[in-house]
Amino acid sequence: MELIKNLKWRYAVKKYSEKKISENKVNQIVEAINLTASSCGIQPYRLFVITNPEVRKRLGEGSFNAQIHASSHLLVFAGFNEITSDYIRDYVEMMERQRNLEKGTLDVLKDTLIDYFSVQTPGQNVIWSDKQAYIGLGTALIAAAELKVDATPMEGFDPKLFDEVLGLSEKGLHASVIMSLGYRDAANDYLVAVPKARLPVDEFFTRIK
Ligand SMILES: Cc1cc2nc3c(=O)[nH]c(=O)nc-3n(C[C@H](O)[C@H](O)[C@H](O)COP(=O)(O)O)c2cc1C
Repeated sequence: MELIKNLKWRYAVKKYSEKKISENKVNQIVEAINLTASSCGIQPYRLFVITNPEVRKRLGEGSFNAQIHASSHLLVFAGFNEITSDYIRDYVEMMERQRNLEKGTLDVLKDTLIDYFSVQTPGQNVIWSDKQAYIGLGTALIAAAELKVDATPMEGFDPKLFDEVLGLSEKGLHASVIMSLGYRDAANDYLVAVPKARLPVDEFFTRIK
């Protein structure tokens, strides 16, 4: 399986070279993220792809992660603050159009989702949308590895600063998790030759027959 080879190749890069990723590769990674499964299928997060150096410098202030500004691209996975009935309505109507269904065919799904989310607290909404964003992060890591693009998933950032710089709360969003993309600086990244540390598979998983 090629995927296992790619997963062994990848690591969380600490130091990137100056080399930029082609737009074609970035677009493929974005498409893979958009194709990621989400609970209820309603994609409750949005993705920002940031290259602007000034914006990235500001985003990296106070963080130990130089990769926020020193990499080719920065991805920000931004979860919804709230799952509104309007959003569910619009999304389910889009599903009907994409599947060539008559308007109203998916009313049961729509009403079930609206009922379900209407009793959730804002805190529950945030946790739920963050979980979905992290699934997107997983896809992004795999997609990047398949393209031999390096990546670093990161939780070490200041969500308040991201909110301020990117104007997330006025969009009903918050920064859930971020990821840099680029190419490893093989001569200067101390992790490049460090073997992967993982549990023996037998210790990691339990088979129940
Ligand atoms: C959700 C998440 C958050 C992480 N946050 C950071 C981070 O802020 N900075 C960093 O350098 N690495 C970060 N990492 C990378 C992990 O430390 C790394 O994936 C782990 O040590 C396993 O190593 P490997 O990915 O190189 O195989 C993060 C990884 C994940 C999945």
